Amino acid sequence: MSEFAANKALELRGMQVLKGLLDRDAQERMVEELRHVIRAAPLFSPVTQSGKIMSVRMTSAGRFGWISDRNGYRYSETHPDGMPWPEMPPLVSRVWDTVSGCARTPECCLINFYGESARMGMHQDIDEVDFSAPVVSISLGDDALFRVGNEARGGRTESIWLTSGDVVVMGGASRRLFHGVDRVKHGSSTLLPRAGRINVTLRVVT
Ligand code: SIN
Ligand code: MN
Repeated sequence: MSEFAANKALELRGMQVLKGLLDRDAQERMVEELRHVIRAAPLFSPVTQSGKIMSVRMTSAGRFGWISDRNGYRYSETHPDGMPWPEMPPLVSRVWDTVSGCARTPECCLINFYGESARMGMHQDIDEVDFSAPVVSISLGDDALFRVGNEARGGRTESIWLTSGDVVVMGGASRRLFHGVDRVKHGSSTLLPRAGRINVTLRVVT
């Protein structure tokens, strides 16, 4: 039997939403893994090319991390402080193996931390080379209102609340859809001692 079992599987514009794929024990173990990553590669506040500070703080594990600064956004093999990223955490890798349906291994584990009032504007994940590999997104901690749009900016959108332990697989045509996080219900989960939300996204980059 797999160590992961969803309570319910929904479909949102071609994205697969696996509700409660990680039970509380798995969520706690994953947070512990991520703490090790963050200890070695501290969370930083990315700045956009125009100089705006993003409201999420982030770091990465795996071969590549995603960074943004005054030179623009890109994948990098080193943390802004200069060190290579920590290794891909094993439990995170097993989630990919279970849900991705993809023979390639993920090369980037991006960790986004949403404190009170953090959000993520509508965007596409298009900095990767191989769009046949999905993006796998894991939610931990506070509830988040996740919005999905279209292949072009604008148009009608649909939203869903993601709660701790939910996993979203953005594969096939849904891989190119605009998406974002409008808001996080601060303190809605007891997973993190000081509240907040962690989103982990796994991607093949090359
Ligand atoms: C992202 O698309 O980069 C993050 C999505 C999320 O936080 O759920
Ligand atoms: Mn994204």
